[in-house]
Amino acid sequence: MISPALILFLSFLCHAAIAGRTCPRPDDLPFSTVVPLKTSYEPGEQIVYSCQPGYVSRGGMRRFTCPLTGMWPINTLKCTPRVCPFAGILENGAVRYTTFEYPNAISFTCNHGFYLNGTKSVTCTEEGKWSQELPVCAPITCPPPPVPNFATLSVYKPSLGNNSLYRDTAVFECLPHHAMFGNDTITCTAYGNWTALPECREVKCPFPARPDNGFVNYPAKQALYYKDKATYGCHETYALDGPEEVECTKQGNWSAHPSCKASCKLPVKKATVIYQGERVKLQEKFKNGMLHGDKVSFFCKNKEKKCSYTEDAQCIDGTIEIPKCFKEHSTLAFWKTDASDVKPC
Ligand SMILES: *[C@@H]1O[C@H](CO)[C@@H](O)[C@H](O)[C@H]1NC(C)=O
Ligand SMILES: *[C@@H]1O[C@H](CO)[C@@H](O)[C@H](O)[C@H]1NC(C)=O
Ligand SMILES: *[C@@H]1O[C@H](CO)[C@@H](O)[C@H](O)[C@H]1NC(C)=O
Ligand SMILES: *[C@@H]1O[C@H](CO)[C@@H](O)[C@H](O)[C@H]1NC(C)=O
Ligand SMILES: *[C@@H]1O[C@H](CO)[C@@H](O)[C@H](O)[C@H]1NC(C)=O
Repeated sequence: MISPALILFLSFLCHAAIAGRTCPRPDDLPFSTVVPLKTSYEPGEQIVYSCQPGYVSRGGMRRFTCPLTGMWPINTLKCTPRVCPFAGILENGAVRYTTFEYPNAISFTCNHGFYLNGTKSVTCTEEGKWSQELPVCAPITCPPPPVPNFATLSVYKPSLGNNSLYRDTAVFECLPHHAMFGNDTITCTAYGNWTALPECREVKCPFPARPDNGFVNYPAKQALYYKDKATYGCHETYALDGPEEVECTKQGNWSAHPSCKASCKLPVKKATVIYQGERVKLQEKFKNGMLHGDKVSFFCKNKEKKCSYTEDAQCIDGTIEIPKCFKEHSTLAFWKTDASDVKPC
């Protein structure tokens, strides 16, 4: 016979044993979830470990039953991130990345002269696929350039089909009578447009005025235009001050305004002077007078030191000033030494 007290005792023992064998809350494993998740489990209860979205384990999920011992079996589940397809190479560009695993993002840049056709970055999704299509680096191109009014393209060669590549250039020329304002060369920019176009404008110059004591020749036309030329000359005994030929500039005026300047009559009967580095007799070298601009050096005497020095004189529009120190000898004073024969100071 079993006494009721014994039954009570055994049932207590049994209860205590069973109560002592409950399983604890299961360990956390990285990137995994446990269903159901509780603080304790009765023996026989089941749990399922599986990887979080974006993570996978070899062999898939793990199912465990709480054993009578109350200790969960050793769990070998290892959840690792999904890996997206290799995307470490971008032709004509570069990829910035750490890994190609979920949930990382990678970003793209293109080399100079190329632009990103597509997205700047993609993310590795839970499914192990890139969030968007991978981009490509496409060459920057410019469409054929527009041609300004009154201009022609003098240098232009499309290098990609009908288009130009980044840094390609084109050169314009203006039609005759037209001057260019701005740069004649345009360049295909990194924005796929051309740098600023030049402008060609018709430019007229007034008819040049005849200089006093001279003449000017220019084409017999209704009007004179950019780059037209005029030539100047002077009547006898007059010298041109300025260039012989002038040109109509893009400002609509002439490149210079030459004039005719008078020659100088010989200021002394005779003198030895220096002209263009050589000793010459003034009365011989300049028997027809000195031209405007001609410059000579006269000899003067330093009486105390008994030596000679020179002073310059120049013919300016019909006038020449003889240096004050210059002394012209009478032809009769043949015994006097000319300053030009005295040793230099
Ligand atoms: C840019 O990418 C799209 C889609 O991939 C493609 O259809 C298009 O032709 C590309 N454009 C250039 C200029 O490469
Ligand atoms: C260039 O332009 C011409 C005329 O517009 C066109 O017929 C031709 O197909 C284009 N070629 C390319 C390569 O785009
Ligand atoms: C004209 O443009 C070219 C190329 O863009 C540049 O090299 C050159 O210096 C420019 N010339 C002037 C006068 O600005
Ligand atoms: C070219 O495009 C850029 C960017 O859109 C703009 O800032 C620039 O002014 C354009 N250049 C010309 C010459 O139109
Ligand atoms: C022509 O005109 C421009 C602008 O008006 C002026 O700066 C320049 O000095 C002129 N040139 C001559 C040779 O007169």
